Amino acid sequence: MAEPHFDDMPVTPVPPTPSPTPDAMAPTAPRSAAPSVPFVGGDTAKQRDLAADSQEAGSALTTNQGLKISDDQNSLRAGPRGPTLMEDFHLREKITHFDHERIPERVVHARGAAAHGVFQVYEPLTDLTTATLFQDPAKETPVFVRFSTVAGSRGSADTVRDVRGFAVKFYTEEGVWDLVGNNMPVFFIQDAVKFPDLIHAVKPEPHNEIPQAQSAHDTFWDFVSLTPESAHMLMWVMSDRAIPRSYATMEGFGVHTFRLVNGQGKARFVKFHWKPLKGVFSQVWDEAQKTAGKDPDFHRRPGSCARPAPGKPRPGAGCPPAVPARAADGWG
Ligand code: HEM
Repeated sequence: MAEPHFDDMPVTPVPPTPSPTPDAMAPTAPRSAAPSVPFVGGDTAKQRDLAADSQEAGSALTTNQGLKISDDQNSLRAGPRGPTLMEDFHLREKITHFDHERIPERVVHARGAAAHGVFQVYEPLTDLTTATLFQDPAKETPVFVRFSTVAGSRGSADTVRDVRGFAVKFYTEEGVWDLVGNNMPVFFIQDAVKFPDLIHAVKPEPHNEIPQAQSAHDTFWDFVSLTPESAHMLMWVMSDRAIPRSYATMEGFGVHTFRLVNGQGKARFVKFHWKPLKGVFSQVWDEAQKTAGKDPDFHRRPGSCARPAPGKPRPGAGCPPAVPARAADGWG
């Protein structure tokens, strides 16, 4: 039997756009992107994450005021081909929301990636401090770690030649403790008043916004050539330490000196260093440049420091734990 001709096939009428019914005006639960397929859950961390954000099918897209939206794809017009109407408050809200979606990037360390994890001390540090996270090796303290480059914008590549930042939040019972450092133990300047000048010098040149995430340009070398105290830091920045293989294979040096006080009231100055269990590994310059081109997300991709899935080994392998460097006794 011959295939029916296209023109002979019955036409299924497209249902008309439903006009808003009275109950459509009733406020509803906060919106989800679109009615999604209910998620049945699962036992991996990722599946539990997804399940937490899944909505029952049939729940409606709403305005920020909870008003059901009947049509999110056509703006209100005066007639089928007429101008769009200012009365379309959903259109105005959707556009206004979109226009403000960009969170301004950090003035420095804009490019970074973070991971959740846990901190566990290897041995009790009761002789140094009474802080709870350092008392019991069996105790887990949740941490959130952000690694970053310094000069590049938020969209720049991971494997550029630059200093790497460590910013760690320890969520302890005594409050959140912030520990910040870089993967180099020295810095360009000895006086904070020069920091804006340093950053203006290393950032892209203002007249052409070039180069991105690189210090290989006049303003930077002009600045450091006139700032002798930056010489030691230049040795580090021009070494392989500035092109680490991954976040998990770089050392870290805390920027602040902490005063730790033990149960007897004895105080000592302490600086914290990160020592990677996998050791310190870098890329070679040619490799780092090629990687930046091929995969700008090379460091953030592995997530090798991401939180463990249930039953998976603790992120000890490759994640640099914090080890307090003992202060020379006598700094009371
Ligand atoms: C005078 C010296 C410095 C000034 C004025 C300064 C200022 C800043 C500012 C404004 C930010 C962005 C913060 C934000 O927007 O969230 C930042 C981020 C950061 N700085 Fe500094 N900084 C200085 C020196 C240092 C040094 C010496 C280190 C480390 C050894 C360091 C490590 C970091 C890190 C790791 C971040 C990223 C924090 C994050 O990931 O949230 N800074 N700094």
